[in-house]
Amino acid sequence: LENLPCSFVIFGATGDLASNKLLPALFHLEVASRLGERLTIVAFSRRDWTLDSWREYLSSILANKVKAKLEGPVFERFLARFRYHRGDLNDVESYRALVANLPPEPACSRTVFYLAIKPADFAVVIKNLQAVGLNQPRGMNRVVIEKPFGEDLESAQVLNRLLHQYLDEEQVYRIDHFLGKETVQNLLVFRFANTLIEPLWNRNFIDHVQITVAESIGIEKRADYYDRAGALRDMLQNHLMQLMTVVAMEPPVALEADALRDEKVKVLRSIRPIAKRAIHAHAVRAQYALGNIDGQTVVGYQQEENVEINSLTETFVAAKFYIDNWRWRGVPFYLRTGKRLAKQASLIAIRFKHPPQQLFRETPLEFIAPNWVLLSIQPEQSMRLEIHVKQPGLDMDTRVMQMNASFLKTDEQALDAYETLLLDVIEGDRSLFIRFDEVEWAWRIVDPILKHWLVEREFIPIYPSGSWGPTEANRLFDNDDQTWRNEL
Ligand code: BG6
Repeated sequence: LENLPCSFVIFGATGDLASNKLLPALFHLEVASRLGERLTIVAFSRRDWTLDSWREYLSSILANKVKAKLEGPVFERFLARFRYHRGDLNDVESYRALVANLPPEPACSRTVFYLAIKPADFAVVIKNLQAVGLNQPRGMNRVVIEKPFGEDLESAQVLNRLLHQYLDEEQVYRIDHFLGKETVQNLLVFRFANTLIEPLWNRNFIDHVQITVAESIGIEKRADYYDRAGALRDMLQNHLMQLMTVVAMEPPVALEADALRDEKVKVLRSIRPIAKRAIHAHAVRAQYALGNIDGQTVVGYQQEENVEINSLTETFVAAKFYIDNWRWRGVPFYLRTGKRLAKQASLIAIRFKHPPQQLFRETPLEFIAPNWVLLSIQPEQSMRLEIHVKQPGLDMDTRVMQMNASFLKTDEQALDAYETLLLDVIEGDRSLFIRFDEVEWAWRIVDPILKHWLVEREFIPIYPSGSWGPTEANRLFDNDDQTWRNEL
């Protein structure tokens, strides 16, 4: 118990991430009695509020986000954990005052600092924490850093050097919330707890892999951040590449933080670098235009508040990678993600090769679909196998049957990724957090694409909101019989 942190500071406590994800997740952990008696939560924000106004705000945001009751002893206990700290991220005095607002040492010597703030502010917070001694005691306090970690390879290295100047690696938690999603962890179980699948999971049987993270939301009120970042930095370099590593990695020697991360890094290191002249064959970007989602007209990206005039920022990206190792050589991995697509749907789709012999000649060839394994990450958490069976009747025709399995039983509820990950931070388990070499290799792979786009400044393809993205995304496919799978 002594090892558990006793304070949890949220920088950016009134921001989007805190209100949409962190605070609801902390409350759910409270409901599940997982927060520990001693934990104090400090909300750090610029707003000129009192503890009472903070509590009011907290109740109002939770009301829209959580199902549990906002009354009674559990809720009272949750409210009582909070302190409100008005402060300016840039002002070292705010941090001095923060020290005074934390539970006193030595009774309480472990603190989590969660940087739920713009990446541009990471450095100043780290420096200020150091200036008032809050990076000490080494190995005790933890700092959680949100993605994107840097905006390219070089800036990521600079940020990492800064972190290591003031903190030990064990103190740093680089978060990628996709790894906290139940279905993503289930991928490890699916692959490594069954003998049925793993023997087929390689270049001999798999034709290609698709990873799609489609969102129907636009950029919401995040233009300040998003217009600089774009879909490649916001999603592909981190979330989608992480999903790819989990699909492609070898079994780790144990389910331990470094063993897992070693295997993921091997995958990233094996990705074939994309040559400059091949960028067009490997990456497509596009931007959403006016369109229609669920019967509602929505504006194009250019018309969103605070987006720069004629911005070329991509809201959709698709890319093709090859993993040049023994298992995957020659198998394309197609990744794509976009905002304002037809639906919210995240899907890992594995297409198998055709059998070597076509015995069932009665079935016209165009109806002989390959086998697929589809793993749906959201909104459903489920799996589908598509296999051939005989069509009832006099002829020897086949048809595709879908075997569906939900990962959740009817009375079970999916956890939010942040619940899992915040508990891991509190308990000091770093398995689902990103080591710097993973970040570094991921940037190495996408950097040439970013550099190329930076030079090509005349034009970006558009797609209507509510569609499945630009037709240009089809040009990535190696073969004519490959097409995108959009949803379950
Ligand atoms: C975030 C991105 O990391 O992930 C957002 O910054 C995106 O742009 C979000 O909407 C998607 O996560 P989830 O868990 O809502 O699918």
